[in-house]
Amino acid sequence: MEQKKLSLRGKNVLGLADFSAEEIRLVLDTAKEMKNVMHRDIKKVPTLRGKAIVTLFYEPSTRTRTSFELAGKYLGADVVNITAGSSSIVKGESLRDTLYTIEAMGVDAIVMRHKAEGAAEYASRVVSPVILNAGDGAHAHPSQALLNLFTIEEHKGRLAGLKVAILGDVLHSRVARSDIQGMRKMGMEVHIAGPKTLLPRFLYQEPGVVVHERIEEAIADADVIEVLRIQLERMKGGLFPTTREYARIFGLNNERLAMAKDDVLVLHPGPMNKGWEISPFVAYGDNSAIQEEVQNGVAIRMALYTLVLTGGKQA
Ligand code: CP
Repeated sequence: MEQKKLSLRGKNVLGLADFSAEEIRLVLDTAKEMKNVMHRDIKKVPTLRGKAIVTLFYEPSTRTRTSFELAGKYLGADVVNITAGSSSIVKGESLRDTLYTIEAMGVDAIVMRHKAEGAAEYASRVVSPVILNAGDGAHAHPSQALLNLFTIEEHKGRLAGLKVAILGDVLHSRVARSDIQGMRKMGMEVHIAGPKTLLPRFLYQEPGVVVHERIEEAIADADVIEVLRIQLERMKGGLFPTTREYARIFGLNNERLAMAKDDVLVLHPGPMNKGWEISPFVAYGDNSAIQEEVQNGVAIRMALYTLVLTGGKQA
């Protein structure tokens, strides 16, 4: 019997919890082709000609919003950006009415960032355009986790069996939650360390995740280290003594980096607090792939658009 071809056409990208390993593989393989398009002199293909995309951001963003915009433009779509501060949201328009208004203009996809967990899923229930979650509270940031997987595989040639250490503020991190889901699905070993006040309880029950008391234990022999941003803006205060103390006990510096494998890959979703969770020497050092993550973010978002809006027609 002929096997049905895997298709993501029409799928809402809400989180990696509802992506299978095969679906993640399809996105990563498609992103490889998209990266070739990015390296052409003329970075423009007609894959999404005639499609309209709105990015709707209720929270600040540099990387995610810009890369979703560029990805759409490289694929030939019309892309319009709405940020909370310069729209009728400041006049009190509700999320639902904003979504209805965008839908009425005939858009095909909405890329959405919101401080409330579940906001993207809510959007997927009330309007018909495909929803791509660009971060909802501390819940999920699926495209960031996919670009992390893509970057790791580019360097290591595989994902399964690699040891990754995720360090720092997991409590407020949607990136860490999506990373853990994606990395486990792709067969990676996940080790976590950070201040106890910033490690949510669920981590201790999470299958395939090892939580360490000290970051040195998590780093030992790691293939990949992902450092998380200290999200001071989301903290009510008092979760650790001072940023200097944090850097001393939990910061990734050259001395700690030496405990990992020689070719360890360092990731950080950005923006970085250099001198706090990561030293500038590590951030800009030979093991760092932090700038590559940004570039790969465009390829991953091109892949997601192509797959959910066309089912994977070639560029
Ligand atoms: N990694 C990330 O989400 O960065 P931005 O907030 O700049 O989009």
